[in-house]
Amino acid sequence: MPDRQLPRLRLRDLSHSFGAVRALDGLSFDIAPGEYVTLLGPSGSGKSTTLALIAGFLQQDAGSIEFDARPLHRTPAHRRGIGLVFQAAQLLPHLSVADNIALPLKLRRVGRAERDAAVTRMLDLVALRGFAERASASLSGGQAQRVALARALVFEPRLVLLDEPLGALDRQLRETMQQELRAVQRRLGVSMLHVTHDQAEAMAVSDRMAVIEAGRLRQIGTPREVYENPADGFVASFLGEDNRLPGRVEAIEDDVAFVRLAGGALVEARDAGVLAGGACMVAIRPERLAVMAGAMAADMGDDAVAAVLRESSFRGDHLRLVLDVAGITVVVKRPTVVPLAGLVPGATLALAWQAQHARAVPLAL
Ligand SMILES: Nc1ncnc2c1ncn2[C@@H]1O[C@H](COP(=O)(O)OP(=O)(O)OP(=O)(O)O)[C@@H](O)[C@H]1O
Ligand SMILES: [Mg+2]
Repeated sequence: MPDRQLPRLRLRDLSHSFGAVRALDGLSFDIAPGEYVTLLGPSGSGKSTTLALIAGFLQQDAGSIEFDARPLHRTPAHRRGIGLVFQAAQLLPHLSVADNIALPLKLRRVGRAERDAAVTRMLDLVALRGFAERASASLSGGQAQRVALARALVFEPRLVLLDEPLGALDRQLRETMQQELRAVQRRLGVSMLHVTHDQAEAMAVSDRMAVIEAGRLRQIGTPREVYENPADGFVASFLGEDNRLPGRVEAIEDDVAFVRLAGGALVEARDAGVLAGGACMVAIRPERLAVMAGAMAADMGDDAVAAVLRESSFRGDHLRLVLDVAGITVVVKRPTVVPLAGLVPGATLALAWQAQHARAVPLAL
């Protein structure tokens, strides 16, 4: 049994600059044995730099990296024993699929018979049985990426780093590959650090997601924690649309804040660090909002949050409504299975939500 107390990988206060550009600025987080962590952030936030430091292609200016409690900074890249998968599969085109997968074993001077057995196991693992002798140059994008994954796993590393490994694939193949990655990772119990800027992808595969911005960690947590309890406004909006209604906190009871919105309605939201009497924002995800039309909306009385429908558009798996609430634009996603009459532009609607699905956040956030 792996020691659950001891992280597989421990990053502490990592900093790295390229000339005047500070790519990483005191980054810290841990990855447990067998854990799948995704690293998310906007372009230029330092994701690839983080992987390059862990892999040993770059040296940090400050901070430490520990791999199974051993500092890594004196270990050269080729001795770190970490598997790598990049956006482009980077197979050697003149070698067969089997020879590409066997390469890390050859470099480690593993004997022929053992190599062949390992390659066969890997081909099964990535569902490419029968492809051993194929020329690598003849593979499709998804097949090439599976070979790259097999090559990264064949020497049984304890950690695999993936940098946008599915970025070049079409949506359907991406989703299939996401499931395969997760299944393979679970079966082998390997730790993974997977860079992506696709939040849906991160949610699909992660045990935990680490969100970084400008070389600093903003938040790390399970997909549900990070989505439903974002640490700040940056994380909230990075992980999808987040409506924000300005108001003032009238009272706080237990963990519920009673907020008077600018339009006059008194609403409830989970207290996410506000003060009674203070200005705040009520933040709500589009899928957490219910809309009512016609008589039901009129029945809501004074505390209804009145909204005017600007537009509605059909998005296949949901209906997207854009509303105006006292001058603020609010987006609602409605399941298409629940039809609602009266969704015509200009209609007056009422919005409602459950208190636990809205967050009352201080204005500065
Ligand atoms: N070799 C380099 N020389 C100079 N600056 C660099 C170099 N590599 C990265 N940078 C800079 O460091 C910062 C972080 O880059 P990094 O590649 O880590 O971002 P990223 O999060 O991987 O972005 P993307 O999502 O676009 O891949 C950026 O400002 C980038 O321009
Ligand atoms: Mg990158």
